[in-house]
Amino acid sequence: ADKKMWGGRFSGGTAASMEAYSESVSFDWRLYAEDILGSQAHARMLARQGFLTDDEAVRICDGLDAVRAEIEAGEFVWKTGHEDVHMNIESRLTELIGPLGGKLHTARSRNDQVALDFRLHVAARLAAWQERLAALIKVYADRADEHRDTLLPGCTHFQPAQPVSLAHHLLAYCQMFRRDHERLADCLKRVRVMPLGAAALAGTTHPVDPAFVAQQLGMEAVFANSMDAVADRDFVLEAVFAGSVVMTHLSRMCEEIIIWANPNFGYVRLPDGYSTGSSIMPQKKNPDSCEIMRGKTGRVVGSLMGLLVLVKGLPMTYNRDMQEDKEPFFDADRTVTASLEIMAGLLRELEFVPERMLAAVERGFLNATELADYLAARGLPFREAHHITGAAVGYAESKGVRLEDLSLDEMRRFSALIDEDVYGVLDYRAAVRRRNMPGGTGPQSVAGQITALRTWLGSA
Ligand code: ARG
Repeated sequence: ADKKMWGGRFSGGTAASMEAYSESVSFDWRLYAEDILGSQAHARMLARQGFLTDDEAVRICDGLDAVRAEIEAGEFVWKTGHEDVHMNIESRLTELIGPLGGKLHTARSRNDQVALDFRLHVAARLAAWQERLAALIKVYADRADEHRDTLLPGCTHFQPAQPVSLAHHLLAYCQMFRRDHERLADCLKRVRVMPLGAAALAGTTHPVDPAFVAQQLGMEAVFANSMDAVADRDFVLEAVFAGSVVMTHLSRMCEEIIIWANPNFGYVRLPDGYSTGSSIMPQKKNPDSCEIMRGKTGRVVGSLMGLLVLVKGLPMTYNRDMQEDKEPFFDADRTVTASLEIMAGLLRELEFVPERMLAAVERGFLNATELADYLAARGLPFREAHHITGAAVGYAESKGVRLEDLSLDEMRRFSALIDEDVYGVLDYRAAVRRRNMPGGTGPQSVAGQITALRTWLGSA
């Protein structure tokens, strides 16, 4: 094996099993771009502080560019003997530019280096999630716009409750995803904090300038405590939490699509591109995309749990346990990124079936609240109006008809306050139209929600 960078005080080599057990380069190679950017900013800072000559800094930065080119050309040989991405890159740099490469690590430890690399990586990925969330919200808003006049049963307890427009239902998801987008923006403030300069844990005697490095790398703040800088992993916990909430929202939508696609509902027809058939039952069209996404939600939540447990018992400051923070994030990132894309594609092509939705609205006494409100508006205490309406529903149900199918005479048996105008009130579309209060399912409210979302998307 190659000589270890930290091998000065060792005489024996690392056991082969230990080398395989402790290496992280097989997964943290994904941080190579951030590692190189961080090192180049660090080298420039060392030159500004007079620790390197300008020429030395340029040779280091050029050498790192050459290393990146090798990596991106697939020519770089990653060695588990060098443990991680940081030492692999530094040792190759030294091969390329000679002993000068050894000056790069001045005033730096892998503890602050890995924190910087991972923060840069997480920040870039959270920004990518935000872009995909915005794209998904746009698809939702477009589909809502097409279905302002489509009614479906709004449910509570998954029981038919009141008619709402499909637009309103879809726009509810927009609000969830918008909050996710904002949650990521908030999280990013705490991710974009510069840890470099903390060194191993106590800071450094070299005259470093973390604010300069922070500004070079687009970080918003500099660590306030060097021990915290190398020990803090809340930024990953928060990121994966935010990802778990995104997945949870997607999973709720998946659950609805799965139910809606069941022929007993028949509210949607699944696009071929996002469903699969059965190898034995020729009639089947299965909502696998949604099932897989619902399943993968558990996986991301599992990563969050794993990370929380990983961190909970760690004494100050850096502990090697923390190397286990990367795979759960990489895995969650892969899942969140792909899921947002799949849902946008699926929703763009999903075929809604308004007739089936309307039939369900008309089957479920979804205008019972309208009758109760009608009676209350005529002076009856609402509790009484509720009771009377319940009796009318029971009567219609026993006859196998809808409320609006009862004659005026039949209705008046329940309350003499009922007049001919009740039929207009029982109309399902009218019930939706009357709810134009801000945030309601009425058409003006829905139009306003779509406009507000589009304005927000324009600036998001
Ligand atoms: N591969 C390590 C990690 O991911 C890098 C930091 C190692 N630092 C150390 N002192 N062993 O956490």
